[in-house]
Amino acid sequence: VVDIKGGPDEGLERLGQSLLVMGWVRTLRVQSSVTFIEVNDGSCLSNMQCVLGLDAEGYDQVESGLITTGASIWVQGILAASQGSKQKVELKVKKIVVVGKSDPSYPIQKKRVSREFLRTKAHLRPRTNTFGAVARVRNALAYATHTFFQENGFVWVSSPIITASDCEGAGEQFCVTTLIPSTREASHSPVDGIPRLKDGLVDWSQDFFGKPAFLTVSGQLNAETYATALSDVYTFGPTFRAENSNTSRHLAEFWMIEPELAFADLNDDMACATAYLQYVVRHVLENCKEDMEFFNTWIEKGIIDRLSDVADKDFVQLTYTDAVELLLRANKKFEFPVKWGCDLQSEHERYLTEKAFSGCPVIVRDYPKDIKAFYMRRNDDGKTVAAMDMLVPRVGELIGGSQREERLEYLEERLDESKLNKDSYWWYLDLRRYGSVPHAGFGLGFERLVQFVTGIENIRDVIPFPRAPGSAEF
Ligand code: 4AD
Ligand code: MG
Repeated sequence: VVDIKGGPDEGLERLGQSLLVMGWVRTLRVQSSVTFIEVNDGSCLSNMQCVLGLDAEGYDQVESGLITTGASIWVQGILAASQGSKQKVELKVKKIVVVGKSDPSYPIQKKRVSREFLRTKAHLRPRTNTFGAVARVRNALAYATHTFFQENGFVWVSSPIITASDCEGAGEQFCVTTLIPSTREASHSPVDGIPRLKDGLVDWSQDFFGKPAFLTVSGQLNAETYATALSDVYTFGPTFRAENSNTSRHLAEFWMIEPELAFADLNDDMACATAYLQYVVRHVLENCKEDMEFFNTWIEKGIIDRLSDVADKDFVQLTYTDAVELLLRANKKFEFPVKWGCDLQSEHERYLTEKAFSGCPVIVRDYPKDIKAFYMRRNDDGKTVAAMDMLVPRVGELIGGSQREERLEYLEERLDESKLNKDSYWWYLDLRRYGSVPHAGFGLGFERLVQFVTGIENIRDVIPFPRAPGSAEF
């Protein structure tokens, strides 16, 4: 089986070798005595140019029109130096077999199609250059993520997808309710499948979980239980948010990486986030050269240089209070006015990373407690919490993290203030009763990382099957 990984140059060491290529036809050019077929097997961006003479076994399939764009083929031949300017090597075909022909209605023909159109063809779009490259870079980022944490002694923890707790306390959870199977038939259930009491309230006693359950918005609370037993841990899994935001940075289902560091404070947390981001960026620059060149040329000019800077330079750090002051002093009219105590909007985040600190990731820390989640550690000023957000150009918030409130009495106070039910967090409070330690962690939205590294503008184009309001096909 041919290995054309690494781009067109690499084949040069294999000149004269007999190879078998299995892939999908990208283009076909039939001339009187020779036919050129470009085939791609997804292992890299480059196609293998296959050259067929009239004497190639199976040439009749060209004549009968079986070989068209999109068809899957199996080609065997000898690797030779190419005369063409686009590639260094090509395959002189001895034998070709059409494995699966492609109907003329195949929607991904040679002409360029928009990414909006391809969103309606999510089952076929991985066969395009852009989506193939995104899939490979996404894979490299996942690999580098595990490598970084494993090399630094973190233990990977699987946090649950179904949960009764709302980690962010923002009420953005998808509800998971279903009847206990044995009672399903007997019930005359309404549309959502849950039996109602006479007054219309849900009868949870007959629900599968016996109480409201949801898809998780974050694995953090569960990660904290393991961090207070195994020390440094991380999660990497899908999370869900019923945010009705139709933006290029929000999904209803996205993947999150959540490290949790034991015996650590906010400074340790920021250092970990910085080292992690630099590590994965460097990994992609070194290991995905061909795909990164593609993004650099077609998607975002100069992205390779900008990422190289990110991998090498220190990130900016400033407090929320300083960021607000800087924005107030900025000679710019924002749509949302800046005011201490209000959350930063994406226009403010973009100003900080793109204008104020041109192109550099910026970490904003010590946010007002009233705009942040209940679990963040109260600072001594009583007004702010030990929170941090890492903002990056174009994407905005890439990471959200904090030092956790490890003091029982403060945590209970914050749950009350946030109007959350203390009883349902009993196990989380237990962690503060039995051997509590200072600890900190963060969450990185994996799709936003893929956006940042590839330059792709819309988050729906960096996850194989995007889930957003009104869209859950495929
Ligand atoms: O800032 P968030 O809400 O933080 C948490 O969930 C914490 N529990 C994380 C932790 O400390 N362990 O989300 C973290 C990150 C954001 O910075 C963003 O990158 C991403 O998750 N994110 C989303 N990505 C895509 N679509 C959405 N709807 C997202 N919401 C958050
Ligand atoms: Mg956040």
